[in-house]
Amino acid sequence: MTIRVSVLPTAAWAETVAEDLARRVRAEPGLRVCLPTGDTPSPVYAALSGKAARGEVSFGEATIILLDEYLGLAPGHPARCDARLRRELIDGLSPQPAAFHEIDADGPDDDEAARRHDAIAAGGLDLVLLGLGGNGHVGLNEPGSRPEDPTRVVRIAASSRDVAVERYGADPPPTGGITLGIGRLLEARELWLLVTGESKSAILARALERPEGPDCPASYLRRHPNVRVIADEPAAIRLAAGAR
Ligand code: PGA
Repeated sequence: MTIRVSVLPTAAWAETVAEDLARRVRAEPGLRVCLPTGDTPSPVYAALSGKAARGEVSFGEATIILLDEYLGLAPGHPARCDARLRRELIDGLSPQPAAFHEIDADGPDDDEAARRHDAIAAGGLDLVLLGLGGNGHVGLNEPGSRPEDPTRVVRIAASSRDVAVERYGADPPPTGGITLGIGRLLEARELWLLVTGESKSAILARALERPEGPDCPASYLRRHPNVRVIADEPAAIRLAAGAR
């Protein structure tokens, strides 16, 4: 299957993704959308927040479902995915989304929290936005993950833990995570893989242009019939010319 790859100038990337998402929400106000956190989507959320503040889009009927969460960080810790998505997007929305489904990382039973979150996702995902980990992960489906792995408690790869500590300010480091499984993501109606920066160019080329495999969980996204990669120019420099 030919995967759709949009390559945009870096300066236009976030605004374009935000406008595409706003257009989807305008067309389908009750959209059930799964959102990631991280440095990649942050500028998209900033642009989207501006649109919402100007009345150009409303999430009042939409449902937002968190993609993944760290374990081992205190409630409200700014590096937590729930706190970050609230800070960067949700808190500023008026009206608030019809629902925001976080992942319970503070309860007595993490496996049960994963099952409950999976049940919410099983209710239907219209659109899933994903970042691409430097090691090929999507959500916290780290290398070694299989497409049939369920939504579950996971160990975090050392490189992902370093990102959490050094870039996101996780202190103490996360001890694990809960993530929607790749199989659940593949059941969504539509997937958008967001990729920016030259530092992601090699792993993006690996994800798209070499045979799928557990060394790069993002490569399994190519099984989806409606997946779109939205990259900026530096992230796309290693893709075969036809893909750019
Ligand atoms: P980043 O993380 O957007 O902060 O680079 C991506 C990811 O790990 O999913």
